[in-house]
Amino acid sequence: MLDQQQVVLSAVQPSGNLTVGNSLGAIKNFSAFPDARRFFCVADLHAVTVRQVPADLRRRTYETLALYLACGLDPSACVLFVQSQVPAHAELAWLLGCHTMFGELSRMTQFKDKSQKHADNINAGLFTYPVLMAADILLYQTDLVPVGADQKQHLELARNIAQRFNGVFGDTLTVPEGYIPPTGRKIMSLSDPTAKMSKSDPNPNASLFILDEPDVILRKCKRAVTDSGNEIRRGEGKEGIENLMTIYECCTGQSDEEVAALFDGRGYGVFKEAVGETVAEHLRPVREAFHRYMGDRAYLDECMKKGAEEAAYYARKTLSKVKRKMGFVG
Ligand code: TYM
Repeated sequence: MLDQQQVVLSAVQPSGNLTVGNSLGAIKNFSAFPDARRFFCVADLHAVTVRQVPADLRRRTYETLALYLACGLDPSACVLFVQSQVPAHAELAWLLGCHTMFGELSRMTQFKDKSQKHADNINAGLFTYPVLMAADILLYQTDLVPVGADQKQHLELARNIAQRFNGVFGDTLTVPEGYIPPTGRKIMSLSDPTAKMSKSDPNPNASLFILDEPDVILRKCKRAVTDSGNEIRRGEGKEGIENLMTIYECCTGQSDEEVAALFDGRGYGVFKEAVGETVAEHLRPVREAFHRYMGDRAYLDECMKKGAEEAAYYARKTLSKVKRKMGFVG
């Protein structure tokens, strides 16, 4: 009998301290598909496209796994694994790279941005990064990929690669769909609400980190850049307030109208404080669970081992199929 279970996959790079952008735009939605077969990956191979201090990379790999667990992802209900521990990712990336055009990769906006930011290290990995991401997704015959809006272009490329491969070799790879949430798809920087909140932003006040203590969150929210008005609503020139509304709504489940009514006439100061308190409270259980998991390295190692074995089982199936179709001698 055919296995009709939907497959969901996503990944996070262990390249910095995770922000509420990562949590509200992506990780929060990892729990939205309880009936699917779910794979959540710590994308450490992606992280080395920019220079990493080895000890930091190792620590953040554990931290990212601990955060997955702290956000409620249960290793007996989904496959939590570290990308570099499943060699099929790198192997499929090579094969798919031979079906990806130089021109396509040259158009990736993230490549252009990162080449500007790291002008002294525009390496080939930075350029072929989206092929590895396509391999991550296609290796598991993924139907749905929950991500933030910034990954849309990469996802589109993964779809194109799958369609092209299927066009040449016949139906082999599932063409994935993105799941980009209606609210929280792009959380903006607190100090420049026209730029994305990013874990690699050198200004620590620009981002709310999942592991920030409550007083730090409160302080950052109070200092968030807004406009000179006093109305809590969305609109032209109100990017800062819009961003705080989005963050607040993601944490409380309230709508624009409810938030506008609740804070009507109360001014930005009161609103900012409420956002800070709400985010701090929302993240409290995650932060507490994170510290518990980080205190148990043996458990994290056990999870990684189990996850890698499970992921490798599914990955092997697709990889052999791809290699057979391409004419490799098995
Ligand atoms: P990464 O590590 O930059 O971010 C992890 C996830 O968080 C989302 N995100 C945001 N969402 C809303 N607002 C923000 N400010 C914000 N910042 C980040 C990202 O969209 C992402 O979903 N290339 C990926 C990692 C990756 C991947 C994959 C994702 C590797 N392989 C396969 C999906 C499937 C990345 O760099 O994400």
